[in-house]
Amino acid sequence: MYHAKLDRFPNDFLWGSASAAYQVEGAWNEDGKGTSVWDNFVRIPGKTFKGTNGNVAVDHYHRYQEDVALMAEMGLKAYRFSVSWSRIFPAGKGEINEAGIQFYENLIDELLQHQIEPIVTLYHWDLPQALQDAYGGWESREIIQDFNDYCVALFKRLKDKVNYWVTLNEQNVFISHGYEQASHPPGVRDRKRMYEANHIANLANAKAIQSFRQIIPNGKIGPSFAYGPAYAYSSNPEDVLAAQNAEEFNSHWWMDVYSWGVYPKSVLKYLEKYDMAPTMEAGDEALLKAGKPDFMGVNYYQTATFTASPLDEEFVNAKENHDGKKGNFVENGNAGLFKRKRNEALETTNWDWEIDPTGLRIGLRRITSRYGLPVLVTENGLGEFDKLEDNSTVNDDYRIDYIRKHIEQLQAAITDGVDLLGYCTWSFTDLLSWLNGYQKRYGFVYVDRDELNEKELRRVRKKSFYWYRDVIESNGEML
Ligand code: GAL
Repeated sequence: MYHAKLDRFPNDFLWGSASAAYQVEGAWNEDGKGTSVWDNFVRIPGKTFKGTNGNVAVDHYHRYQEDVALMAEMGLKAYRFSVSWSRIFPAGKGEINEAGIQFYENLIDELLQHQIEPIVTLYHWDLPQALQDAYGGWESREIIQDFNDYCVALFKRLKDKVNYWVTLNEQNVFISHGYEQASHPPGVRDRKRMYEANHIANLANAKAIQSFRQIIPNGKIGPSFAYGPAYAYSSNPEDVLAAQNAEEFNSHWWMDVYSWGVYPKSVLKYLEKYDMAPTMEAGDEALLKAGKPDFMGVNYYQTATFTASPLDEEFVNAKENHDGKKGNFVENGNAGLFKRKRNEALETTNWDWEIDPTGLRIGLRRITSRYGLPVLVTENGLGEFDKLEDNSTVNDDYRIDYIRKHIEQLQAAITDGVDLLGYCTWSFTDLLSWLNGYQKRYGFVYVDRDELNEKELRRVRKKSFYWYRDVIESNGEML
């Protein structure tokens, strides 16, 4: 679809930026916080780039006022951040840790004073270790009640201050990395267990939304899904079918449940055949159906391109690129279903992520036609090496170029008919990239630290900071 003239961004469009507790806060054991599974996982030798952890991260816990002042200077309309469950309930349940909840209330008050809309993510992967130890975390149905209690505590406390809520961040990522690839906690490689844990996460998500309706009837809530729209490698019908398999297994498997409370038929049938289907108990379907979101949150980084894969295909374990040395792409996939190929039409980042702004529009269009839900882009951004110049500047023109092209596609998508609530870049300040250390930077604000040295954690506005400020000020006119 080409448009001679594009629609304007709505006046109340949420120009935002995002972060996650473990990646920015630090203060990992302060003010009564309990240990999370990430606090421990990063300590296993060889898991993270140069053994980095989030003990200090970028010290947002102590510097949130300085960070919010920078957001205000930029004119940010929304800030998405996550709450660390083990700050609120150090043991995952029981008594509320007042100091923990107070931190978030202070942060929210600071944002509101500057007219910045808080978007609160309830779960961005840092499960209290106590719940992992007690019953295996997401593998036990006990977590449904505990997660609900935690969410309800936050809903009640913050209901007059927070309108936008995100339930689970990238359930597809934390479940598949946690239980299939073993690259995230709890480091399991077992597909049957993965599908069971995923089903329980779906139930927890739905129950939290159900509770939300009672406590904050006028608020908005939805999950953040890591959506990588699937492309066919060629017009060969076998490739087209492979791409359809990938779309159903990798995306509809989650988004159908969020939106309609049902699993896509062909995937379910396949899993039943291979004895991997999740256990459905009485009441599950009704609960899933009761957990419909107000919007689909989308974390978009790249598309994925697929070709057919025969039943007897064997894949080597993909070596992931955690050091920014380009050229690590390994074909991987699911025998009999699909195999991922490099898309030669696209450039990649130094971490081998394909850069595809049009893919964002395609993804938003697919969500709109399949689910008819409004969309909130909860993450999108470029992880790159940045260089701090002598005169305290960072000339990140590549980041400006990346975000500009994605915003252009947002505007096209709006013109196509997508109901888009907002756009949160990843990220506002530089932060810890889970397994990739600190050198993979995403922020508008440079944080002067590296893997080995925390230095002063000085904040430096990058060139993109001033650029995004102008984008916001002109409501997307000045790109
Ligand atoms: C997402 C995740 C974020 C951030 C981002 C960029 O998968 O939600 O926490 O790490 O990727 O790497």
